[in-house]
Amino acid sequence: MHLHKYEKYWLMFGIGSLIVFLLITGLMALNNSHETPNSQKTINPEKVSEIAPFNKPGVHKVAGKDWDYEVVVVASAFLYEPSEIKIPVNSKVKFIATSKDVVHGFEIAKTNINMMLEPGHISEYTTTVNKKGEFLVVCNEYCGMGHAEMHATLKVVDFK
Ligand code: CUA
Repeated sequence: MHLHKYEKYWLMFGIGSLIVFLLITGLMALNNSHETPNSQKTINPEKVSEIAPFNKPGVHKVAGKDWDYEVVVVASAFLYEPSEIKIPVNSKVKFIATSKDVVHGFEIAKTNINMMLEPGHISEYTTTVNKKGEFLVVCNEYCGMGHAEMHATLKVVDFK
């Protein structure tokens, strides 16, 4: 088969770009630090209480980050640690949560906070709490006998 010179160049260009694209996607897939927007960080669900930050559930004031507080939550049948979360109004908060056993929900009524907590995965959500008051944290994933009793409280309070 006779190929015109320019046809040959064009073919080489096509094959060349295909190889380049495959290399790029291949390298991206191999690189562990590359995460798609909806992928989650993973954790060993059996060792949750030993792994930071989950070894210290609760509200932590942080400095030098884009948010003011980190709220670390560990869910297990049928409770949340901590059971009460207290944050000053208008603070930027990062919720970091996981489950020790089965899939639980983390929905804060009357807010836009709603995460699914899966064992082995870390769920994160950053938001500004700008409404004062007491909010009910509820589990919205059926997780067993005590599902309906699984709740916590978020208290958004004035700065001292
Ligand atoms: Cu936990 Cu339903």
